[in-house]
Amino acid sequence: MAKIYLDYAATTPLNPNVFKAMLPYLKQDFGNTSSIHSLGQQALGAIDEARAVLADFLGCDAQEIIFTGSATEANNLAVLGTVQAVKNKQPHVITTPIEHHAVLEPCRELEKQGVEVSYLPVDKEGLVTLADVKKALKPNTVLVSIMYANNEVGAIQPIQEIGQLIKKTSPKILFHTDAVQAVNYLDCNVEKLGVDLLTLSAHKIYGPKGVGALFVKNGILIKPLIYGGGQEAGLRSGTENVAGIVGLASAIKEIQNPKHKIQNIRTRQFRDKLIKNILKIIPDAHLNGSLVHRLPNNVNISFRGVEGEAIVIALDQKGIAASTGSACSSKSLEPSHVLLAMGFSEEEAHGSLRITLGRPTTPKDLERLLKVLPPIIQKLRQISGYQL
Ligand SMILES: Cc1ncc(COP(=O)(O)O)c(C=O)c1O
Repeated sequence: MAKIYLDYAATTPLNPNVFKAMLPYLKQDFGNTSSIHSLGQQALGAIDEARAVLADFLGCDAQEIIFTGSATEANNLAVLGTVQAVKNKQPHVITTPIEHHAVLEPCRELEKQGVEVSYLPVDKEGLVTLADVKKALKPNTVLVSIMYANNEVGAIQPIQEIGQLIKKTSPKILFHTDAVQAVNYLDCNVEKLGVDLLTLSAHKIYGPKGVGALFVKNGILIKPLIYGGGQEAGLRSGTENVAGIVGLASAIKEIQNPKHKIQNIRTRQFRDKLIKNILKIIPDAHLNGSLVHRLPNNVNISFRGVEGEAIVIALDQKGIAASTGSACSSKSLEPSHVLLAMGFSEEEAHGSLRITLGRPTTPKDLERLLKVLPPIIQKLRQISGYQL
């Protein structure tokens, strides 16, 4: 039985065109960008070209792109690097409780260092409100970090409106967005969004693992996390992952292909049909997150009386890969911090299943899921003694 992969928010397979673009830099074009000889200069040329591709996608200058080893690193650089660079003795940071741990943990680190961090509330749909952002802004606020789209429930935040509000309040407050899950589907023009810093990751967009990037607006003071040879404008020392960076740029070019927009419409249609069918076929199931402000590939549903992990294991035995919350934290059996912040009980937060669709997903894959899921839920409910 062929495996069905429905966990594209965790990671994506490498696009064959991306692989082809990377290959020369893993083989004959292996130079170090810091070398003076032609092999080195060729590698430097390749990452300059990649920088130009990302700049075109984000609508910024090429020198505003900093390549990193992951989006986790880019988020750490954005949060720690900006706050530690400011002269303000009592800096204040605003974020949300539904961020990825790659933002939450650096924020907790700042708190340990005595920085005040405010966590904005989110509503039942996983959305922050402009009124709450406005209320949280203070004269000593130095950074606001709000994700563009959530990795667990797919909730899309009003980043453009928040950006306008922040800049109207004080142009000095920096605005960062973690756009890792948004890049495949949403407009990431940094000027339109009004962001000063934006994070992205290659392996969520059919590129290689171990490469990320941070857009840092010209003129922003930021302290590096890593010191060494001064690569990436001194913000990320270490010999660049040339093949990975070329792969990231190639994955971005694929997104810019007009056929990609049509594919996204198709994905959204698949998503809506799948949600409708699951809720119709399985009783006591409910959709988590907004239906309107939602990523086109995200389905997150809770089933009363059933543990999310048990569903994932049972689906895996049937050859279907899905997830509970975010893959990075799902090894722990903690309830989803995102669902808890959205006001769900611990029990509800434990019972969620995340299905994320991707470019290769077919109607047949979803038909198979719809066939195997109802008996799994029924059986698990029998075991838990749940009465409908
Ligand atoms: C929203 C979000 N931010 C950051 C990350 C971390 O990305 P990376 O794996 O490149 O460190 C992820 C990965 O799950 C994510 O979904």
